[in-house]
Amino acid sequence: MEVELGVPVPESPTQVWTPQSWRNFTADQQPQYASAEDVSRVAKQLSGHPPLVFAAEARELRRQLALVAEGKAFLLQGGDCAESFTDFNANRIRDTFKVLLQMAVVLTFAGNLPVVKVARMAGQYAKPRSANTETVSGIELPSYRGDIINGIDFTREARTPDPQRMVTAYNQSAATLNLLRAFAQGGLADLHQVHGWNLSFLKNNPQREKYAQLAERLQEALEFMAVCGVKSENTPAIRETVLYTSHEALLLEYEQALTRTDSLTGKWYDCSAHMLWIGERTRQLDGAHVEFLSGVCNPIGMKVGPSMQPDELLRLIDKLNPENEAGRLTLITRMGADTLGEKLPALVRAVQAEGRSVVWSTDPMHGNTVKAGNGYKTRDFDKILREIRDFFSVHWAEGSHPGGIHLEMTGEHVTECTGGAWKISEADLASCYRTQCDPRLNADQVLELAFCVSEWLRAGRIA
Ligand code: PEP
Ligand code: CO
Repeated sequence: MEVELGVPVPESPTQVWTPQSWRNFTADQQPQYASAEDVSRVAKQLSGHPPLVFAAEARELRRQLALVAEGKAFLLQGGDCAESFTDFNANRIRDTFKVLLQMAVVLTFAGNLPVVKVARMAGQYAKPRSANTETVSGIELPSYRGDIINGIDFTREARTPDPQRMVTAYNQSAATLNLLRAFAQGGLADLHQVHGWNLSFLKNNPQREKYAQLAERLQEALEFMAVCGVKSENTPAIRETVLYTSHEALLLEYEQALTRTDSLTGKWYDCSAHMLWIGERTRQLDGAHVEFLSGVCNPIGMKVGPSMQPDELLRLIDKLNPENEAGRLTLITRMGADTLGEKLPALVRAVQAEGRSVVWSTDPMHGNTVKAGNGYKTRDFDKILREIRDFFSVHWAEGSHPGGIHLEMTGEHVTECTGGAWKISEADLASCYRTQCDPRLNADQVLELAFCVSEWLRAGRIA
């Protein structure tokens, strides 16, 4: 056998990353499809479809996240827990887009930092579940795993995983992304519109006065800039915005099918979204999800729950960001408000001591889910705020940057999380509880949250 000099011979096939090398590792949380041929046929079809995002966009997001890692920008990531095939329409996309932008304006202006906006949209269709099956009245069926895999209705037909759903998810992601790009560049994101939005949007909102004052200050700033010749007609930065997309890279058949080599750099990118993250349940060092995301060049995230140990975290960072590149890896802590203060400092210290560059973001949702007395899954606004506040305090105490927030939220006026200025009670939850999966903050709650966070950011910067 001839061996080419200079080309290392792999000791085992698992040492070389390819878009399918994850298949040599254990992949948790994958559906059991009835027909492997059907899965291959769909995967083949999808791998011939156009990419949803362009590699250069993912590189630009990485560059911006590098600024977040240095404390020079702030990351705002948010959207549905799970997008839905049936609840798919322009108004819902527009409303979430608008509220994300409003939050970003509040954070930028009051917090005095540029905000990198990343939506949990246009691909957030797969859900990890704690049990493989669900039993109701003695009938056991597969758990609902997100619309890309099966249907939510409790029937055998709906719950049977169907690979064709991957094509629907791709098509709906493409349509969502198309609309988001149009909103971002077609005038809806014009800073001059922000004042207009809040009039209809915050009509009965208790935050109206605060928001009006901020909008007034913003208006004054825009008028001053206009006098100096900086207007939306001649300045894209005022007229347009960039909203990146992200989702949990859970269903590896789908992610592999959307993974392509970039013609400019020859590197691999998962073109299903700009940013992909690994969930708390699939972040095993020797697991398929870590293997898969270790080889694509997108900016990636990893959820970090309360059981994470400092050593384990450093080994995961070694695998996911071996070159220690700023902006490559975002650690999304999701500890729970009662646990974060105890668990986070050791992790931050370990990362600091080893000189690893990461973006630290907080998901204050998944560690604070409770079951209300009436059976609804909910989260309390004050606990969510407390986890964010403690996240900031820990980072500041350790000389690290609290880089961002990661929220399950919607632009709709749902009643899924308790508390906030409207004091949603457990009894109110039933009035508009619409989530496919976890409870989301509604438009008023996230805006209120943005005000609080921007005040803390400002105070932190001043300090
Ligand atoms: C999620 O972000 O929807 C999720 C399932 O989070 P985690 O993996 O942290 O539980
Ligand atoms: Co969730």
